[in-house]
This record gives sequence, C-alpha cells and structure tokens, in this order.
Amino acid sequence: MQRTLILLKPDCFQRRLVGEILSRFERKGLNIVAMKLIQVTPELSKQHYAEHAEKPFYPSLEDFITSAPVVALALEGLDAIAVVREMLGATNGLKAAPGTIRGDFSSSRQMNLVHASDSPESAARELDLYFSKEEFVDSKDELARFMR
Ligand code: PPS
Repeated sequence: MQRTLILLKPDCFQRRLVGEILSRFERKGLNIVAMKLIQVTPELSKQHYAEHAEKPFYPSLEDFITSAPVVALALEGLDAIAVVREMLGATNGLKAAPGTIRGDFSSSRQMNLVHASDSPESAARELDLYFSKEEFVDSKDELARFMR
C-alpha cells in the first residue's frame, strides 16, 4: 500500500472541477485518507517546490499556486503514486493524452489542475509538509472490504 500527496490547484478550484476530479480518484478505487482546503503561502510554496526554486518559471509558479485555495489530500491504494500519475497524464496539458485528467481538462503546463507526488521519497516529504499524523484516517478495514 502506498500514500501519495495530491493538490487540486487554484485552476481546479476556480473552474469548479474539484468534485469531478475527486470522483475520478474514488471511482478508480483509491481511498481518501486526509483532505483539507488551504491557501498555500509563499513559504509553503518554496518548501514544496524546492527542487524548482532556481528555475526561471518558479516566480510564476509561486504566483499561481498562492493565487486561490487548493484542496490538499492524501490518497492511499496499491501502487498509488504511479496509478495517480498515470491518471493525470503528461505535465503539459497540451501534450497529455485524451482520457487523462489533464488531457481532458487542461491545455497548459502551469495550469495543469493537479499536483501529485512523483516518487515514494517525494510522497513522504510532501505528505509531511501538508498533514500532521493526527489528520490521517485509517482506511485499512474499508479497503480490505472493497477488494475482497
Ligand atoms: S521540469 O522542468 O521538468 O523540472 O518541470 P516538471 O517536473 O515538468 O514540472 C514541475 C512543476 O513545475 C510546473 N512547471 C511550470 N510552471 C510554470 N511555467 C512553466 N514553464 C513550468 N514548467 C513546469 C509544473 O506545472 C509542475 O507542477 P506540479 O505541481 O509539480 O505538477
């Protein structure tokens, strides 16, 4: 079982796509084990996107991610990190395949609707940035029932 950190970004919130995208994750069989609506601060953005802080696009990325609320959530499931990345499609919405979330709803590299952790190491670091241990629910019993 894996957990992964998801952000439904400001464009997702502003375009009223939160329900649509959460629904796709739920229908796939992934479990929501933590969730909240938050305003990302410049400080949190710098921590989250630390590996991109020196890139030319970082100032624009920070402006965007702090521009409106985001929904932060943790999804749990078998191979959840790769499964979610596959569901999202390519980073650039223009290049994302039809049927993927970005392929169906985005035409932008910045406004690509959803962030998802890209490895077990980044998932551990990012989950820790957004959630305390007390904010997670235990989905083991529910998932075991679902997969029988
Ligand atoms: S890179 O260039 O390969 O390191 O970047 P990538 O891993 O594809 O993307 C990392 C996040 O940065 C955002 N991004 C951009 N924002 C604005 N402008 C440009 N040019 C740009 N390029 C990448 C991209 O949306 C990724 O955000 P997350 O939240 O990780 O999906």
